[in-house]
Amino acid sequence: MTAGRGYAGAPATGGGFTLRPLRSTDAPDIVAACSDEQTQAWLPLPDPYTTSDALRFVTEVAPAQCESGDGVVFGIEVGGRLHGCIDLKHTDWQAATAEVGYWVAPWARGQGLAARACRTLAEWALREQGLERVELHAATGNVASNRAAERAGFVREGLARNAGRVRGGRVDLVVWSLVPGDLS
Ligand SMILES: CC(C)(COP(=O)(O)OP(=O)(O)OC[C@H]1O[C@@H](n2cnc3c(N)ncnc32)[C@H](O)[C@@H]1OP(=O)(O)O)[C@@H](O)C(=O)NCCC(=O)NCCS
Repeated sequence: MTAGRGYAGAPATGGGFTLRPLRSTDAPDIVAACSDEQTQAWLPLPDPYTTSDALRFVTEVAPAQCESGDGVVFGIEVGGRLHGCIDLKHTDWQAATAEVGYWVAPWARGQGLAARACRTLAEWALREQGLERVELHAATGNVASNRAAERAGFVREGLARNAGRVRGGRVDLVVWSLVPGDLS
């Protein structure tokens, strides 16, 4: 991250969802989603995941990620309810690269929401925020996430061996990317 650079604004609404900042009132939905077995299996979250974890994420972690220029965090809202969370992190403004991550709440899965939100956020980063590359890393065993990456139009580059840690232990990560040349 290079000091003095940061994300500005938010992607336009469309595709049946809105990307908007998280709010303290999202805490109950965040607790439910982050307590889910699949979310716990693939993301490094506190267990048990409590209301104070959610509030700390909304009021401290996410704002700090944004203020430092390291990234930006959005809630994925559908029909007035939080359905997921998506972020850009590890932004290197000099190299113009960042990494996208996400979860979709159990009550919102099975509709391709991660792929659509991921495409929207990555396209916004490439078209409007000056980035040249958005990466996505998913454990080899995380079928839904790898499929979401593919559906979002990301290109599979290969494997980063033993690069991640999930609940089950160390894992190889599939490395995906979207670059301006991939956009039509
Ligand atoms: C990964 C995640 C965000 C995807 O949520 P989603 O957008 O609702 O994804 P969907 O359920 O629509 O599934 C996406 C695709 O994967 C497929 N899929 C999902 N689970 C699958 C499984 N167990 N086996 C095979 N295919 C599966 C779906 O059929 C769908 O394929 P399609 O695009 O060909 O129809 C969600 O499962 C999640 O939050 N998981 C826990 C957190 C996580 O893993 N985050 C990502 C870390 S890299």
